[in-house]
Amino acid sequence: MPDVKYVLNSGSIITEPAEAVKMVKICCIGAGYVGGPTMAVIALKCPDVEVAVVDISVPRINAWNSDQLPIYEPGLDDVVKQCRGKNLFFSTDVEKHVREADIVFVSVNTPTKTRGLGAGKAADLTYWESAARMIADVSVSDKIVVEKSTVPVKTAEAIEKILTHNSKGIKFQILSNPEFLAEGTAIKDLFNPDRVLIGGRETPEGFKAVQTLKDVYAHWVPEGQIITTNLWSAELSKLAANAFLAQRISSVNAMSALCEATGADVTQVSYAVGTDSRIGPKFLNSSVGFGGSCFQKDILNLVYICECNGLPEVAEYWKQVIKINDYQKSRFVNRVVSSMFNSVSNKKIAVLGFAFKKDTGDTRETPAIDVCKGLLEDKAMLSIYDPQVTEDQIQRDLSMNKFDWDHPLHLQPMSPTTVKQVSVTWDAYEATKDAHGICIMTEWDEFKNLDFQKIFDHMQKPAFVFDGRNIMNLQKLREIGFIVYSIGKPLDDWLKDMPAVA
Ligand code: UDX
Ligand code: ADP
Repeated sequence: MPDVKYVLNSGSIITEPAEAVKMVKICCIGAGYVGGPTMAVIALKCPDVEVAVVDISVPRINAWNSDQLPIYEPGLDDVVKQCRGKNLFFSTDVEKHVREADIVFVSVNTPTKTRGLGAGKAADLTYWESAARMIADVSVSDKIVVEKSTVPVKTAEAIEKILTHNSKGIKFQILSNPEFLAEGTAIKDLFNPDRVLIGGRETPEGFKAVQTLKDVYAHWVPEGQIITTNLWSAELSKLAANAFLAQRISSVNAMSALCEATGADVTQVSYAVGTDSRIGPKFLNSSVGFGGSCFQKDILNLVYICECNGLPEVAEYWKQVIKINDYQKSRFVNRVVSSMFNSVSNKKIAVLGFAFKKDTGDTRETPAIDVCKGLLEDKAMLSIYDPQVTEDQIQRDLSMNKFDWDHPLHLQPMSPTTVKQVSVTWDAYEATKDAHGICIMTEWDEFKNLDFQKIFDHMQKPAFVFDGRNIMNLQKLREIGFIVYSIGKPLDDWLKDMPAVA
């Protein structure tokens, strides 16, 4: 095996015997949407590496060890089945696995602070700090500690301080290795990432740690796609990538309002804009708004960092991405209410889809929450159907306070207060029966194949469809007799005189 060379910024070269950088045991703290799938794929692609995923949540670990995994992700079951019990283990024995590991990934919750300094914007690093203190406490050998969950820039520095001040002579190297997978396509994204980003200290020890992690990914990711940077660049790149993506959606959503006002069709505009190779066609689907655990949180984080660094103009710029997202959700609610004679009081509204996007059961920051809350404010009776979201989750989401979702399960309210005007069904036809209107909140493929004639026949008249994802065949729905609203599309005469935003 050839020796491994590291080139420092100063130009000097360090050489290490290859066996010195050989890796064996990985532990990941946090068995969530990021930790679970990422580690499963590492285990699959690196049969010579032993991977333990640990979590404080007993039900979560039990589920990872069962046939009913705690998260729904296409292809995940298969990957887990291939490696579980061989080189992939799920455990609540956090300390043991951390102690034994050479690389510790940390993928714990990073909620937005709801009180104190930076409330409503800054990341709450409580779970991170407690994980770092625990790592320092239980370690008996040198370790590489990898930031996997998205964290504010400079978190690595803070973590490094906690580890070194409590290290008892053990050496820790901190790396930032942000995850870019998107839910619903996590396995595909992990198998074939656009890039893997690894940030580390620009010291001989730092380079060595980066190389060690690079070697893990090199089992299946081409070398040219593994980008190495300094720690702060890696941390900021993740926030920046999410901000750029969210900004595209807010940009097209802002256009959607203008399309409705002018008679342009947002799909046609997106297509025309996206064919410019400098802009590109992806991520230009207008919708009721973006959701998910990352976009809003990361932008708020970015805003806070800008403010703390005396950059109010930059902070304002990014804040606008969230403002447009909120505007889009309230604009949608206003369209529904104003179309239905300015009142939805006691009217049954069917909500099709609750997850923040298709192919996931995840509801974190889903636009459906704000839309449902808006309709409930106007006293609607909601009947909700999502193929992957349980009644308990929906009730939880509708009764939880803003940002409360991002804490470990055992710290969330045990039995949420049930919202009485909400019923949850396991069938789209049941949800729409006797309804006055249908709101499509998630772009599940199965919604496109529903028998809308049958649905129409069992609804109150006039019957409305409000498509928050632009997935419906509007022409067909109109022929059946529906009054239709679809984001950013030319308006039905019925809607033309109704104000979009009161
Ligand atoms: C995102 C990033 O894509 C990923 O790289 C990062 O690691 C985590 O955050 P995720 O939130 O899982 O991933 O899903 P994504 O596909 O980005 O969708 C986010 C939201 O934007 C969803 O609500 C989706 O419906 C919405 N969206 C996406 C649109 O409204 N229009 C689009 O064109 C694309
Ligand atoms: P993500 O989407 O980033 O993966 P999740 O909320 O799905 O985030 O997962 C974070 C996981 O981290 C949760 O399952 C939570 O129980 C776990 N966790 C939080 N703090 C600790 C800790 N100190 N030790 C072990 N697990 C933790």
